[in-house]
Amino acid sequence: MSNDQQATVHLGEALAWLRTLETASADAVITDPPYSSGGMLRSDRTGTTKAKYTDSATKSQYVDFSGDNRDQRGWGYWMTLWLSEALRVTKPGGVLVMFCDWRQLPTATDTMQSGGWVWRGLVPWIKPDARPQLGRFTQNAEFVAWGSNGPMPVEGGALPGYYLARAPRANEGRQHITQKPVDVLRSLVQIAPRGGLVIDPFTGSGTTGVACLHEGRRFAGCESVPHHHATALHRLAVARGAAVPDGMQGAFDLEMS
Ligand SMILES: C[S@@+](CC[C@H](N)C(=O)[O-])C[C@H]1O[C@@H](n2cnc3c(N)ncnc32)[C@H](O)[C@@H]1O
Repeated sequence: MSNDQQATVHLGEALAWLRTLETASADAVITDPPYSSGGMLRSDRTGTTKAKYTDSATKSQYVDFSGDNRDQRGWGYWMTLWLSEALRVTKPGGVLVMFCDWRQLPTATDTMQSGGWVWRGLVPWIKPDARPQLGRFTQNAEFVAWGSNGPMPVEGGALPGYYLARAPRANEGRQHITQKPVDVLRSLVQIAPRGGLVIDPFTGSGTTGVACLHEGRRFAGCESVPHHHATALHRLAVARGAAVPDGMQGAFDLEMS
């Protein structure tokens, strides 16, 4: 396997996995942790992720994901734990790039800094097809909060300050409830040097890894749900050209029903 085709996903728990990684070995942490958001009531938070994030038309297509039931204080404490460990694993000057939504934005940026990262900015991800709500502002954006492990060298090209992209749709081969657009990740991973190592402790269906393979970055991820781990491995294999595309493998489709 050539250097730019190196991509692995560990099946297990993220904090335990991070603790096994070498100090200062990664160039960037590019990740999408469970938001523990959605809903106004405790019962909303403690429900399944399918109940929170899918509608009746798509619910049966998806498998729940883990880690989305923490209350606000619990989420903040947990974020600081893994963000601290991710800092240790990242080279000085390396970067953290982390998705969050509007509800969790204050805690996400606070905990990034409690974890020792220098907070450097926000990159809005605008979803043009967000559902309008009568008498309300439409909630079109999620956010990419980013920071660095101390001072950053000035190198590489300029990257965008916002993204305009639809979220992957159920009828377009989406395999994870909160799957992110590959094109957005292909741009984000360019914050890491070509051939550099990107890690994603919350790999889900593997979008960060797919982007790394397309963009010539090495990738190591972790996912705790076996179904999503298998999805990520499959998508990485497709991205390497070693497997048939998503949706064309009967056994895989059956597993999702
Ligand atoms: C928001 S999703 C990531 C989706 C991903 N960006 C994609 O495009 O498919 C977060 C993922 O982290 C996983 N997860 C949650 N807590 C975890 C933990 N402690 N260790 C490892 N994985 C975890 C969930 O099962 C879920 O698949």
